[in-house]
Amino acid sequence: MPVSDYQLVSAWQEVLRLSKLEAGQTVTILTSTATHPQNLRCAAIAVQSLGAVMNRLDLPPVNAEKALSRDPLAYLGTTPLTGNKAAIACLKESDLVLDLMTLLFSPEQIDILKSGTKILLAVEPPEVLVRTVPTEADRKRVKTAAARIEAAKEMTVVSDAGTDLRCPIGEFPATAEYAFVDEAGRWDHWPSGFAFTFPNEGQATGRIVIDKGDILLPQKSYTTDQIILTVENGYATKIEGGVDAELLREYMASFNDPEGYAISHIGWGLQPRCYWSTLGLYDKEQTIGMDARAYEGNFLFSLGPNNEGGGSRTTACHIDIPLRNCTVSLDGEEVVRNGKVLDGGVK
Ligand SMILES: [Fe+2]
Repeated sequence: MPVSDYQLVSAWQEVLRLSKLEAGQTVTILTSTATHPQNLRCAAIAVQSLGAVMNRLDLPPVNAEKALSRDPLAYLGTTPLTGNKAAIACLKESDLVLDLMTLLFSPEQIDILKSGTKILLAVEPPEVLVRTVPTEADRKRVKTAAARIEAAKEMTVVSDAGTDLRCPIGEFPATAEYAFVDEAGRWDHWPSGFAFTFPNEGQATGRIVIDKGDILLPQKSYTTDQIILTVENGYATKIEGGVDAELLREYMASFNDPEGYAISHIGWGLQPRCYWSTLGLYDKEQTIGMDARAYEGNFLFSLGPNNEGGGSRTTACHIDIPLRNCTVSLDGEEVVRNGKVLDGGVK
């Protein structure tokens, strides 16, 4: 459904309020060729309505000659900030950056955050943003989950489909994504609503069965058959199955990088206003699939880098895979049972 500017401005105002934006602070809106015009228009109005100083920084896209699709999360290479001192200085001098471009994880972004600047990524279409306006309750719930991860030494995941994964954890911190930036130096993504960490380097083992109907991102497709990953010493060493497995194997092989097969972030979705089924309603060009990443009760794991969590692995290949109907446990205690979160819901 179309969204009125009034609705989207109100949504932005609420996200900025939750992000503690104050009159007189400086907000830079980062844009590029694929920025949604209504998102930009309404963000600009909301920022000004709260009395902040607003800049717009428009940067050209990069990586086109290497990326295999238009999805901004599909290829983690250089960013438009690489070697761009003037742009980095502008962002460091801002209190808040609204990233309508998709900056992605990069040394430049980490550097900007260290300066205290907050960054909020928001690139989904207007109706998704309006539906998924975050709340204080979301924040509490996701932070509670992250604290449980932080206290645990092992995350295990099983499913009737055959997943049986063991991930020693603790080497990397837990991250809570709740779609607003209420602390200096914080990065977040609207929409979101999930908690995760990374397995200890080289220690994830077992088997992951991507079941029929599960989602691959950036493929933005529902699998039509099982894909079975064998996980040894932190890496997916075999990808077996039918055509879906072949498609995944060829896509990953095109990066020609063994680090792309590492088990990356592991966690679960906690956002009741996101849905497994939403991806089926969109053309692939219209969304980056945040509903799939955040829907309540998924087990979201990924393949690829761990530099986002403080690790040393960088790779251009990054696949996010939310699984349904999994049971996730921390040190043997179930936190998600058959795709249902066991925390009593949002309070
Ligand atoms: Fe990811």
